[in-house]
Amino acid sequence: MATVDYSVRPGGPLTGTLRVAGDKSISHRAVILSALAVGRSEITGLLEGEDVLGTIAAFRALGVAIEGPVDGRLVVEGVGLHGLKVPQAPLDLGNSGTSMRLLAGLLCAQPFGTRLVGDESLMRRPMERVAAPLRLMGAVIETGDRGCPPLHIVGGRPLQGVVYRLPVASAQVKSAILLAGLYAQGHTTVIEPAPSRDHSERMLAGFGYPVRREGAAITVEGGAGALQAVRLAVPSDLSSAAFFLVAASIVPGSCLRLVQVGVNPTRRGIIDILRLMGAHIDQENETWVSGEPVADLVVRSADLQGITIPPELVPLAIDEFPALFVAAACARGTTVLRGAEELRVKESDRLAVMARGLAALGVAVQEFPDGLAITGGPLAGGVIDSGGDHRVAMAFAVAGLRAAGTVVIRDCRNVATSFPGFVDRAREAGFALTVTGP
Ligand code: S3P
Repeated sequence: MATVDYSVRPGGPLTGTLRVAGDKSISHRAVILSALAVGRSEITGLLEGEDVLGTIAAFRALGVAIEGPVDGRLVVEGVGLHGLKVPQAPLDLGNSGTSMRLLAGLLCAQPFGTRLVGDESLMRRPMERVAAPLRLMGAVIETGDRGCPPLHIVGGRPLQGVVYRLPVASAQVKSAILLAGLYAQGHTTVIEPAPSRDHSERMLAGFGYPVRREGAAITVEGGAGALQAVRLAVPSDLSSAAFFLVAASIVPGSCLRLVQVGVNPTRRGIIDILRLMGAHIDQENETWVSGEPVADLVVRSADLQGITIPPELVPLAIDEFPALFVAAACARGTTVLRGAEELRVKESDRLAVMARGLAALGVAVQEFPDGLAITGGPLAGGVIDSGGDHRVAMAFAVAGLRAAGTVVIRDCRNVATSFPGFVDRAREAGFALTVTGP
């Protein structure tokens, strides 16, 4: 079958003002919590990416009336915490790990059973990390071979609160446990080894459900109230902005303004790491949108330096490493990332796929079980396989700006999962990017 391929010619500079797509993590949570709220919620700025559309389709199948999305606006008629209906078929969550893991937490607390499936990539991703703590709460969940999907959730089991120490910093696992905790008897506490994105906690509070944070521990009490419908605006996604932060940094003469991007402290590792590498990124027009800090990010080109990435920044930039590896390939000296074995279980094995792609462009890369060492230097043109991973595809589109010849990236269809407007935004900024295929 023909794939969607990108072809990027070297070029730039990148200039202008861009608004990137809505935040994926916040969009998922906005759909989920609106569905569970009492009354009609209105969401604006929603990401209309396939992952979020998958979450919306799942809630429709669970009996929730949802209008839209149209131009990022979604209206959800919440059914309350106890109003979901039994779906008529397995819920297919496509490429979206966030949908599957968060829904596992929610659905194990329902009076009916469900089956969760996904695409080829999602069917290879680890689910025991979420099933195991939910079982401790009393849930009955079966995973498939090697702990991967399908998930078979047997409903109708009473849940008990737990104190659960997360073995890895994971907002998906944390959120799944907290969602189950809304239905559990007593208190449910999740203790994080390092901060992970806290959108669930912020948004639960925004819907009027009490959440307590004490140091690394986050607690909800089951049955402590109802979620009340809200009007909610979703900021632009820093994870999508990341490709432009790197692109403008590595192409001489660039200056880009990315408007109203989410700059939540649990997400902003990309900004801090790029600044440590010498990037020029200014934050302007700082404000708040629905409980989340946002700002315009103004980025100008800079001479980047290789660094050793501070381990505490790894979970705060977990989705941005494909883009950061391209920054490293264009920096002076060597950049070393360790402690990032989680990258092997994302939409692809991002350490292996990025190492292979960078090597194909002539970059010196060393692969470790938990990271990469990348020595900056000239990039050649070449042909890259994205491994079906949206962020790998966009990262190599950025690399193409600085290569000596054309970079062709194969299998870019999944860019639509997180950033459907990527090609248009990239061209608007000055990329010479063509798309071939269906
Ligand atoms: C997400 C959490 C992260 C991230 C993913 C979105 C979320 O995964 O990689 O893209 O919305 O909670 P982990 O929690 O598994 O690290």
